[in-house]
Amino acid sequence: MGGNWEEAERANQALWDEIAPVHLRAYEEVDILRQGGIALDEIELQEVGEVRGKTLLHLQCHIGTDTLSWARLGARVTGVDFSGESIACAGRLAQELGLDAAFVQANVYELRSVIHQSFDIVYTSRGVLCWLRDLDEWARIIAHFLKPGGIFYLMESHPFCHVLDETTPGELTITYPYFHNSDPVCWDDPSPDYADASYLPERPSYEWSWSISDILNALLRAGLTLELFNEYERLFFKLFRGMENWSERWYWMPRYSGKLPLTFSLRARQPGA
Ligand SMILES: C[S@@+](CC[C@H](N)C(=O)[O-])C[C@H]1O[C@@H](n2cnc3c(N)ncnc32)[C@H](O)[C@@H]1O
Repeated sequence: MGGNWEEAERANQALWDEIAPVHLRAYEEVDILRQGGIALDEIELQEVGEVRGKTLLHLQCHIGTDTLSWARLGARVTGVDFSGESIACAGRLAQELGLDAAFVQANVYELRSVIHQSFDIVYTSRGVLCWLRDLDEWARIIAHFLKPGGIFYLMESHPFCHVLDETTPGELTITYPYFHNSDPVCWDDPSPDYADASYLPERPSYEWSWSISDILNALLRAGLTLELFNEYERLFFKLFRGMENWSERWYWMPRYSGKLPLTFSLRARQPGA
């Protein structure tokens, strides 16, 4: 890749365009929404707090299942994603469900020239950071869109779990780098889609790793105040074959009980107001 992030982003966008319709068919969250429910987790609901009447910008919203859940809870939502297919699926879902939401196709890094409004809440979660090439710029963009006193919320897989590989089911080894490298890692082995195991994505992905200190320092450097940071030993997708259900849509490795952080969440606030 030789530092060519443009090529990496183009490839990633094509991958997400490819798998968005697959996810519209396969995501359990779509069924939950169709049944009148909310596809968010208790952790997020508790840590974000009351959203009714608030403006919420959802970065990397994919097919909009989380965005539409916040809408159902009364937030005035705007979902952003660089995958046109994802945004098209999100729009169709909003229409089908009769929920009010704006969906915008844009690269997070170009958002300042596309959306001219500030928000009470900027939210992003579950599988978002590995696609980002520059966390300092990402954090500055978040700060740009927050009203004084507004909050940024992130729930994400813990960077430590991406260091691990599963050689035999249930047995983990330290394999991949923890610390950031500006060259993304290319994954082009045909492995099943995380939401539909019968589907093998045709396109490669390019992913960056970010450490906990990269994430926290980027937000602090952008001027936000950290309000909470939590770690959990369960994950929102089945990353390793040896994982067992923690609860309906969460997985963990009981064998490593008490030893393995798999998810983290944080809330940070824009000073003022
Ligand atoms: C795992 S999904 C988002 C997670 C969401 N919670 C979900 O599971 O539906 C990652 C999303 O990030 C989007 N994405 C990746 N890089 C982006 C960028 N630079 N700007 C905007 N969207 C991006 C992809 O198109 C994809 O829809």
